Amino acid sequence: MSQKNLMYVTLWLLVQLLVVEINCQMSAPYKPKTREKHTATLIDNKLYILSGRENTGIDVGKDFFYLEIPDKFNTQNLIWKDLSNIDILLPHYGAAAVKGGVDNNTLILYGGTNDTGAMDLVYTYSLQSNSWSIPKITGDDNLITIRKESLSGIVDNKGKMYLWAGSDDVSKKFHYVNNMLILDTINLNMGKGSSIGAPSGRSLYGATLLSDNTIIYMGGHTDIEQLLTLNPVYLYNTINDSWSTKTTSGNIPSGRVGLSVVPGLDDKRVIIFGGTPFTTDYADLTPEDSIYELSLDNFEWRIPKTSGQIPKSRMFHKANVIGKYMVISFGN
Ligand SMILES: *[C@@H]1O[C@H](CO)[C@@H](O)[C@H](O)[C@H]1NC(C)=O
Ligand SMILES: *[C@@H]1O[C@H](CO)[C@@H](O)[C@H](O)[C@H]1NC(C)=O
Ligand SMILES: *[C@@H]1O[C@H](CO)[C@@H](O)[C@H](O)[C@H]1NC(C)=O
Repeated sequence: MSQKNLMYVTLWLLVQLLVVEINCQMSAPYKPKTREKHTATLIDNKLYILSGRENTGIDVGKDFFYLEIPDKFNTQNLIWKDLSNIDILLPHYGAAAVKGGVDNNTLILYGGTNDTGAMDLVYTYSLQSNSWSIPKITGDDNLITIRKESLSGIVDNKGKMYLWAGSDDVSKKFHYVNNMLILDTINLNMGKGSSIGAPSGRSLYGATLLSDNTIIYMGGHTDIEQLLTLNPVYLYNTINDSWSTKTTSGNIPSGRVGLSVVPGLDDKRVIIFGGTPFTTDYADLTPEDSIYELSLDNFEWRIPKTSGQIPKSRMFHKANVIGKYMVISFGN
């Protein structure tokens, strides 16, 4: 087990990949605990962090807080603000969260697990009323009873949240599926996407939405704890609900789980960070082996040129693009 990473946010300039590591104010007014498998959702210039667990498996309680992003995002004077007193959810980890809803300004949380306690399928947090609700989700009974964890939630520009793969049976654990659920965050209806040509079931993979409305998926592991490679990568076209597979070339990173993926600002590449070669007991990757970029023109992997010191790698963190930065929060 690797050491807990005490740095809370890492910032990278996406164009030049200048690496800067910062510490958010860690004392007053609010000092968050370390965590992994939390959610991190950017809404209205606030980065909302919910739940997760400590890497020892201990839950972090009813933790809900945000980082206020100043208009001119800088690495100075960032402070956390605590909203835990309004949290109605059980402590949990492995959920998926996006910005969506009728006002496109609501935090939509799907799935996750408390291990023992029953959670509702979907929770919403309204910034307007500063409160959580449990919406009724419509749709086929076979779909609205599927509860998954350790998956990514990706929202398209029509407010549809794509919930592919993950573990679908929290009591049996490690039962990984490859179904694509699609939650319309505006009318709160659960539908199903295509499984034709879908990759095998997995969890803790990397995923992000590309500018052409496809979602790219890579890595993760199977339910028999087998690492999945980053070649090939898989594309889900959200316009016509179809899968395709892309063989990659170049400096292909080793298989990894618990990595993060974001699109580059030029829409011509994705950048990945962190993760672990799962079979070696959660060992960290070396910093040099933690950052890669994949060209979307020819699907060639490259090690990007960076300046500044690459921070220690981590896994089970989250990455958000804020302005020109890839912001990494928490993780193990
Ligand atoms: C589930 O919720 C209970 C009650 O709050 C809490 O004690 C427990 O630690 C939670 N489990 C996880 C894995 O978060
Ligand atoms: C919600 O806002 C994002 C920008 O933050 C935009 O890309 C997306 O299209 C919007 N969604 C809807 C349904 O209007
Ligand atoms: C979906 O659209 C993509 C891009 O236009 C196209 O290449 C693909 O063949 C389409 N798939 C289906 C099943 O229609």
